[in-house]
Amino acid sequence: MEFHQKHLLDIEHLSEAEIVAVLDTAESMAEISTREVKKVPTLRGKTIINLFFEASTRTRSSFELAAKRLSADIINFSQANSSAVKGESLRDTVLNLEAMNPDALVIRHASSGAAHYLTTFCRSHVVNAGDGSHEHPTQALLDAFTIRQEKKNFKGLRVVIAGDILHSRVARSNIFCLQKLGARVVLCGPPTLLPMEFTSFGPEVIYDFDRALEGADVVMMLRIQMERMQKNFFPSLREYRNLYCLTAQRFKLAKKSAIIMHPGPMNRGVEISAEVADSAKSVILKQVENGVSVRMAVLYLLLGGKEREAAD
Ligand code: CP
Repeated sequence: MEFHQKHLLDIEHLSEAEIVAVLDTAESMAEISTREVKKVPTLRGKTIINLFFEASTRTRSSFELAAKRLSADIINFSQANSSAVKGESLRDTVLNLEAMNPDALVIRHASSGAAHYLTTFCRSHVVNAGDGSHEHPTQALLDAFTIRQEKKNFKGLRVVIAGDILHSRVARSNIFCLQKLGARVVLCGPPTLLPMEFTSFGPEVIYDFDRALEGADVVMMLRIQMERMQKNFFPSLREYRNLYCLTAQRFKLAKKSAIIMHPGPMNRGVEISAEVADSAKSVILKQVENGVSVRMAVLYLLLGGKEREAAD
């Protein structure tokens, strides 16, 4: 099994073999969550700090559950209840928390590059839980894990990622991840939220949603990130919905076997209809379930779980 990283900062710099190593490890981890006693001693004595400077429902709780299922100690830091509100800098906040000797820091921050910045002065392992509009590597890994569960193989799969691509760290991580694994990625969204520069990463860009959906194996919808918009990117939500909402009618253009994904949180009735989100073709809650296994795998691989098991 090939995984030799100290940190998990992005997907861009992982090899295909390293991605597959995380997915294979996550498969073993998934079994632990089905047991009556959902706990193994692998990371006993290790300490992890969840550093969330932005809101989160899924990522923060699944990192916490992942750590606890591996018997690591974890504490949650949230900006709103910290001395950051008194003006303490990111560097000082992190240096003070590191003085308590954690082994890993999981960070979510509104600034692209925040996770990488920590590695310039921290000794702990750093895991990027989403930095600005840069990357969200564990989201892409859990998405790939879910696609592999459903489709078995990535080679030749047509994956359509649609919505607010410009502001999406999920889209960027998925573009790198899915292409490394052999899938064909098609990006779709209004031109203001999908600059042609994205073709330089390899995907095809199609602005017409109906045309993009034709023959799709996987349709991954993204939410409009109003909180990152400084100006109007489209005339109205009504127009956006007309052109880019995944409805049951539109979804018929994809393959019969196609699946529907969304990283959450969803804006029901904007980028995805409630009917589609709750349909039998939707694997959205499966993605959330798989998030725990994938984050267990990431913590296990970074914190030397394999070496500890071998030593025992
Ligand atoms: N997908 C995702 O990152 O969700 P949260 O913002 O709830 O963590």
